[in-house]
Amino acid sequence: MKIAVIGTGYVGLSTGVCLAEIGHTVTCIDIDQKKIQHLQKGIPPFYEPGIGEMIMNNVNKTKLFFSSSHRDGVAGADIVIIAVGTPQREDGSCNLTFLEQAAIDSAPYLEKESIFVIKSTVPIGTNETIQKLIESRFQKKVQIVSNPEFLRQGSAIFDTMHPDRIVIGSENKDASEKIAEMYRPLNAPILITSIRSAEMIKYASNAFLATKISYINYIANLCEQVGADVEDVAQGMGTDKRISPAFLQAGIGYGGSCFPKDVKALLAISKENGINPGLLQETVAMNEHQQTILVSKALQRFQTLKEKRFALLGLSFKPETDDMREAPSIPMAKQLVELGAEVIAYDPKAVHNAKKILGSTIKYADSIDEAFLHADAIFIVTEWGEITNMDIGNLLKTAKSPIVFDGRNCFDEKKIKACDSIEYYSIGKPVL
Ligand code: UGA
Repeated sequence: MKIAVIGTGYVGLSTGVCLAEIGHTVTCIDIDQKKIQHLQKGIPPFYEPGIGEMIMNNVNKTKLFFSSSHRDGVAGADIVIIAVGTPQREDGSCNLTFLEQAAIDSAPYLEKESIFVIKSTVPIGTNETIQKLIESRFQKKVQIVSNPEFLRQGSAIFDTMHPDRIVIGSENKDASEKIAEMYRPLNAPILITSIRSAEMIKYASNAFLATKISYINYIANLCEQVGADVEDVAQGMGTDKRISPAFLQAGIGYGGSCFPKDVKALLAISKENGINPGLLQETVAMNEHQQTILVSKALQRFQTLKEKRFALLGLSFKPETDDMREAPSIPMAKQLVELGAEVIAYDPKAVHNAKKILGSTIKYADSIDEAFLHADAIFIVTEWGEITNMDIGNLLKTAKSPIVFDGRNCFDEKKIKACDSIEYYSIGKPVL
């Protein structure tokens, strides 16, 4: 099939590249010409394992094209997929400006038979609004399909090639069958629903996962008070098939461009529809509390943080990405600086993005070793492999004091106990 994908963020680019990989001819379109010029040379706009190689392979096979012109990609396409950003407004609601613009820019080139697919995460009813916009402004009849995306950053290619399910929301049998056909080579379970249910599935899934994280963090904080170990508790809970072990990793809260935004958007939708959003409000409040929990632990330990030097290991919101959006490292670093501490941070990939947010309020180290030097304590913020595999005992010899605040529970008791005179604070576990 001939497919146009509009938007070359994580979702659009991963979708476009993988659809080319399974045999379709795909044009990825973005209004950012610089981004397109880079992509034409095989340079992705963000760090994502495996995506660069897959782009090059498919460009070379003439299966994948990049363009900043809607005409180039949309004219003659069987399917047009919109995957532009839907950022958060100040009141938590969803800003649909990019989506509307993408629809307006594509509409003149839509063919009679082409199907318009919305992959961006959008409030319930948005697909219908976009359909009406195209029909009224361009006098064109268009088949619209809601097809939410569930890929995770850091494993975007794997997730797109091996989805747990594909959700197709459509009121038209032919359109949903055509989209199912497009995905057929992936061999994934396909769920066909109404447009509104598909839109809701995306929010309900993300808000559920975020709530699961806030729940285990709440249990972790309770474990610390009652002398239990949250990892044992999570294992005991997770072996129940109804609960599952996924997303029961206690830590310093969720971040990224999706969970924080989507939970708040669903909260706004609840309010608009007169449904008490109390449950989601607690999810958000718990997450905000958790993001600075290591600072509270440090305050309790040192009384004052003035003139203390702290190493922050990891800055991105999770490993295998350079994305700093809503990363827990941001409020943590800001609070440490406000309390008078000196912060030196290390991250394998996210420093360039971190500098745009934290600037010179903190220092940046080129290696883990450099961050450890003369540190009063080490904060583990993101569980990059390089950080979880480090020889912590040896590295601590260069620190001023062997104190560790681990926000991701990276080390087992045996490894910690083998280190000389270490003081180790983690989340939901006894202090070692
Ligand atoms: C999330 C969803 O997992 C995807 O299914 C969805 O497609 C995506 O949002 C989206 O809406 O586009 P992502 O934000 O890439 O994906 O990352 P996750 O792996 O879900 O992690 C989100 C946050 O939760 C991270 O900060 C992570 O550290 C945290 N987390 C995750 C925990 O604190 N504990 C856990 O057990 C799991």
